[in-house]
Amino acid sequence: MQFFLDSADVDVIKKLALTGLVDGVTTNPSLVLQSGWSFEEALREICAAVEGPVSAEVVAADFEGIVKEGLHLAKIANNIVVKVPLTFDGLKACQVFCVEEIPVNVTLCFSASQALMAAKAGATFISPFIGRLDDAGHDGLHLIHEIAQIYRQFDFETQILAASIRHPLHVIEAAKLGCDAATIPPKIFEQLIKHPLTDKGLENFTKDWAKTGQKIL
Ligand code: E4P
Repeated sequence: MQFFLDSADVDVIKKLALTGLVDGVTTNPSLVLQSGWSFEEALREICAAVEGPVSAEVVAADFEGIVKEGLHLAKIANNIVVKVPLTFDGLKACQVFCVEEIPVNVTLCFSASQALMAAKAGATFISPFIGRLDDAGHDGLHLIHEIAQIYRQFDFETQILAASIRHPLHVIEAAKLGCDAATIPPKIFEQLIKHPLTDKGLENFTKDWAKTGQKIL
């Protein structure tokens, strides 16, 4: 399973990339706003810091605008994935990007029928927003289950990228459902490795080792 960071904060991405466990990054206009970075500058830095796919979202809503912006963004670096909205214009543009061999992340997916349409359009990634569905009183993980079932049935190559992750359990459940990737906010990425018993165990081992008076090196 690939782990992407859901962030446009260049410093945080650079820091977490040093763990060797970050496979890619997803950005969106709200994350760019939060980061305070200029979009293109941030993309250049992120693409240099992370080898894998870096999603850059278009803001145009019409087909021609999406294609123009996507082609422009794709030139920024070899690992750019153009992120398009789940609309007919977005999916039409997705087909153009497929011909150009530019990978596409279809974003804002909230239903299995939308995911099916995105796969038919040749999307590289589909991003079901599970946290926002949960927030609205629905079951985000159930959507992933449905998409996985449909994609397997027809051998679609589109990868399921669990998005709008709110807590570590979302990542675990997405993994159990066979998601190809999850895009994870930095804070939750750090929580994934934390366990109080690990900290306590380490503290005890360190104390006991000191009492032995020995050294390894
Ligand atoms: C996905 O690509 C989006 O950037 C992201 O997961 C949205 O998450 P949110 O619901 O926390 O804004």
